[in-house]
Amino acid sequence: MTLAAVRTLLQDARRVAVLTGAGMSAESGVPTFRDALTGLWSNFDPEQLATPQAFRANPALVWRWYSERRDGVLAAQPHAGHLALARATERFDSLTLITQNVDGLHARAGSTDVLELHGNILHSRCLDECGVHYDHPDHLPAGAPPRCPGCGAPLRPGVVWFGESLDPAVLSRAERLVAQAQVVLVVGTSGLVYPAAGLPSIARRAGAKVVVINPEPSALDRLAHLVLPQTAAQALPALLEPG
Ligand code: OAD
Repeated sequence: MTLAAVRTLLQDARRVAVLTGAGMSAESGVPTFRDALTGLWSNFDPEQLATPQAFRANPALVWRWYSERRDGVLAAQPHAGHLALARATERFDSLTLITQNVDGLHARAGSTDVLELHGNILHSRCLDECGVHYDHPDHLPAGAPPRCPGCGAPLRPGVVWFGESLDPAVLSRAERLVAQAQVVLVVGTSGLVYPAAGLPSIARRAGAKVVVINPEPSALDRLAHLVLPQTAAQALPALLEPG
């Protein structure tokens, strides 16, 4: 399938789903998950920081890593690719963004239907799940995690950690939407982390055309009808906007 054929498909499509990963935000200056381990953090294994066990063992260390990443996210701006996706909402009956990113950039660009599979780094909630949660970072200090005003347990970042399950309602909606979509764009993900990485094959089995956008080879290329070896900010405006 050619780029022109995908543009034509998009012109006729009513339901489109987009799965995004860390590469979607790279051109906004948000490091990918593994690139986030620079400087002070370069001696740590991400799977050692992003776990419930790591947080319970050393809450201040893990909280500080998330604070630095939160600052980076707050300083970042959506790029032309995020904006093209947000503008394209009006073209389709449904355009759902299913993201593995925790940076909230799709919503900041103006996309309204966004499923955050791995949570949001600007959110926080009680470690002991007593029901307290915050959807804004204003009250969050950079040092040790604050105490939950409800029960006194530490607050934790509102993200999904290794070893934790995704919200089943969010995941099942994502599975349903990719199965109903006529076109699924897969942007900036290595396709290594499940269950998100399983969504393109659900889409393909259900008959969707799958387009992978990634400047490097990924584990999902074998499922794609078309692989565009371009960055998100280059490819998405070219694919979605007239001209
Ligand atoms: P990865 O860091 O595994 O992969 C990023 C992908 O983006 C790579 O395939 C790059 O080639 C590609 N990429 C880099 N720059 C790009 C650009 N400008 N445009 C398009 N693509 C670009 O990130 P994810 O696949 O998102 O999970 O990782 C999935 C999950 O693994 C993350 O959500 C995180 C991590 O462990 C949790 O924290 C639960």
